[in-house]
Amino acid sequence: MPGLIESLKTAPRADGFASILAIGRANPENIIEQSAFPDFFFRITNSDHLVNLKKKFQRICDRTAIRKRHFVWTEEFLAANPCFGTFMGNSLNIRQEVAIREIPKLGAQAALKAIDEWGQPKSHITHLIFCTTSGMDLPGADYQLVKILGLNPNIERVMLYQQGCFAGGTTIRLAKCLAESRKGARVLVVCAETTTVLFRAPSEEHQDDLVTQALFADGASALIIGADPVEAARERASFVIYSTTQVLLPDSEGAIGGHVSEGGLLATLHRDVPSLVSKNVGKCLEEAFTPLGISDWNSIFWVPHPGGRAILDQVEERVGLKPEKLALSRHVLAEFGNMSSVCVHFVLDEMRKKSVKEGKATTGEGLEWGVLFGFGPGVTVETVVLRSVAI
Ligand code: CAA
Repeated sequence: MPGLIESLKTAPRADGFASILAIGRANPENIIEQSAFPDFFFRITNSDHLVNLKKKFQRICDRTAIRKRHFVWTEEFLAANPCFGTFMGNSLNIRQEVAIREIPKLGAQAALKAIDEWGQPKSHITHLIFCTTSGMDLPGADYQLVKILGLNPNIERVMLYQQGCFAGGTTIRLAKCLAESRKGARVLVVCAETTTVLFRAPSEEHQDDLVTQALFADGASALIIGADPVEAARERASFVIYSTTQVLLPDSEGAIGGHVSEGGLLATLHRDVPSLVSKNVGKCLEEAFTPLGISDWNSIFWVPHPGGRAILDQVEERVGLKPEKLALSRHVLAEFGNMSSVCVHFVLDEMRKKSVKEGKATTGEGLEWGVLFGFGPGVTVETVVLRSVAI
């Protein structure tokens, strides 16, 4: 329906705040239990002779609080591509090939679920934000998604490559701007990630990479975001996006990063990431919630990026949160691992579903206000203030 997109170009701003109107998610079929991962990882990379390194990796895996992870790649694929059994051997071409093929497909699976839940014709989608830190291409994964889903070719697209884990929040921030900028705008947000870009053999000289191998996982999420839901069309908000902020943490340079080279994406995760994040979260909260007169952090619902168990532990302790506050972030970490930008959208989905299941008064565990945090390279923090809706 090209007419809709054309007519929107001159439309006035929306009246209300942007809301999340639907959430979809997808994970690849290949699942590996975390308890079996050290054996698998050292066997498939021909590294069983590195006995002490394997013990260390076992210790790290045991401490992640992850139960299972999903992966686009399979054992057969790794075995057929020996470059994955090296540390930083030339492997970028095959990594790119898989990401370029799989990321749009995984994203499309999540998007179809979101569109189905939303219940509106896909011709009503006016904007697309596609986000991935897995591979790059021109035209990008956004273009491929338009083709796969048969979206209007004149949809306005934004492709976010290589942002890292905070981008689950970035996509919501951008979608809010777009959705509120024109009455009737409907933004499809898709995040998709695969570890195909960073899976590699363990190395005694580069033990830091073991944490990366123990944490990250594959998955995709999709949101439909728009202002002023049309009740007659059965559009229904699950969370209102009230405000958004992005900040760079002081003295955090180099703490989280990633570099793409012939050996794939090599991530840097300094040991002080959990303390850096946790000691700055209080200031982010104050800036976001003081205008609302809120200062009790247990009175809001929590959607932090589950970047690692230690990050959640230290945020919980520093902010003085009751254990149940981070339970859903811990659940997503346990059941899916760190899927980078995708994770916070999964937590939102879990929250609204659990709230309904437990007969809570609102989608935010019965509470009115909540916070979504994205953490990632920089160190960058995205803070999104959400308002739940009545169930
Ligand atoms: N780098 C290298 N080694 C590390 C490490 C790090 N960042 N953190 C811990 N280790 C090592 C320890 O030295 C220890 O080794 P030994 O057993 O040989 O002494 C081993 O891991 C286990 O450490 P601990 O017993 O102290 O266990 P822990 O409670 O710290 O748990 C962990 C380990 C699960 C990795 C935990 O530290 C954690 O969750 N860390 C946070 C990980 C992180 O930074 N996540 C952010 C990911 S980035 C992101 O999400 C955004 C993005 O854009 C990439």
